[in-house]
Amino acid sequence: MKIDPWSSSTYQDYSRLRDEFGIEEFNEDYWKDLPNPHRLIRRGVIFGHRGFDQIKRAIENKKPWAILTGLMPSGKMHLGHKMVIDEVIYYQSIGADINVAVADIEAFATRGLTLKQTKDLAINEYIINYIALGLKPENCRIYFQSENIEVKDLGYILAKKTNWSQMQATYGFNGQSNMAHVFAPLIQTGDILHVQLDKYGGPRPTLVPVGVDQDPHIRLSRDIAFAHRLYNVTETKDGKIGVFIKTDENIKELLDKAEKDLLELGFNKLKRITEYKAIYVEDATEDDIQKINEKLAYTESSEGNYGFISPSATFHRFITGLTGEKMSSSKPESAIFLTDTPEVARKKIMGSKTGGAVTLEEQKKNGGKPDECVVFELFLYHLIDDDRQLKEIYNDCKSGKLMCGNCKKQAAELMQKMLQDISKKRENAPDRIKEYLKK
Ligand code: TRP
Ligand code: SF4
Repeated sequence: MKIDPWSSSTYQDYSRLRDEFGIEEFNEDYWKDLPNPHRLIRRGVIFGHRGFDQIKRAIENKKPWAILTGLMPSGKMHLGHKMVIDEVIYYQSIGADINVAVADIEAFATRGLTLKQTKDLAINEYIINYIALGLKPENCRIYFQSENIEVKDLGYILAKKTNWSQMQATYGFNGQSNMAHVFAPLIQTGDILHVQLDKYGGPRPTLVPVGVDQDPHIRLSRDIAFAHRLYNVTETKDGKIGVFIKTDENIKELLDKAEKDLLELGFNKLKRITEYKAIYVEDATEDDIQKINEKLAYTESSEGNYGFISPSATFHRFITGLTGEKMSSSKPESAIFLTDTPEVARKKIMGSKTGGAVTLEEQKKNGGKPDECVVFELFLYHLIDDDRQLKEIYNDCKSGKLMCGNCKKQAAELMQKMLQDISKKRENAPDRIKEYLKK
């Protein structure tokens, strides 16, 4: 199996993704201490992560950390797209600085749109809705890939640490692949890592919240970030914490610098072994790795190297389309667009595929299947924030107390309210766009 970010598969087998690709489970230990965990977190919609530990520590220690995510301006914004921005708004509320890439180059390269078309879509479909949904302009910037020179330069420069075999193996590119398409993941790596350039805030933990289809890009970015580092801070097999130098040049100088940093951090039991290009930090534990790594990254960066801290990511499940397949802009019946009129949304919901039994009688007797019901997904992802209320619907469905007709009606009413609210808030969003488009 291969994860293909440009296909329309849905990847329902989430535990397999964890086993096969090393995505870690985003279990309660990671999020229970976050301030008011978001419903998408509490309910397991965000099911996996890479390197969230770094983010957790930054939050706990009140250190700066960043969000970087991207939007694909290739169609209308629907409920599936809303999910990411719901997450981003939550992270903004708990102190992250927010960076949003408009993937206009990627849309140009992979979806055959002109840059002009992507710009219109980005503004009128996405950015305006982001503002309406409550994204704040403070500590937030939205930029276009095509207009950001650092991102494009990084895409090119960072490409030095990857090769064609790796790109083929990761993405299935071949001799017919269009080179603009081949280059898109490198631009995305530029997106993900540029927030750690000095101009954009320097090295700091960065979280990339995405759908699981984006994992190949996450792996590529993490590989490339690490490949540019001069130091590797790690726990050895025999449980020691060591700082290792990854290059063969300037060993002495690099060891001196690491030693200085370690002393500054308060470690005193340092064992330097030049032949191993290593310093063992005997008074450090696994918990100190991040602190040491970040300090060294900073030193690397301040001397003109790319001291990137490996980006972290969370992965969310995809909301099912109303027709039972993937929710997709190219199939309007499958999706609820944020610009749908309340009446259109109501009709889509009333006609949607549920987990109900074939006859009313049977449903009264055996109950419905909320776990296989797209109406229930609407409640779970978007419409009901109160866990008790959601649980009640779940139980009433299972016990045969709640019938699909009523249930859909309830969902439709909530959806209409939500869309009306967003539509009202969209009204003065156009005037505010420039507050978000910072250089
Ligand atoms: N490739 C992403 C998509 O298809 C868009 C994107 C571009 C992105 N740059 C990014 C996502 C950086 C996350 C981080 O939707
Ligand atoms: Fe879905 Fe509601 Fe029907 Fe249960 S009662 S199957 S949740 S629509």
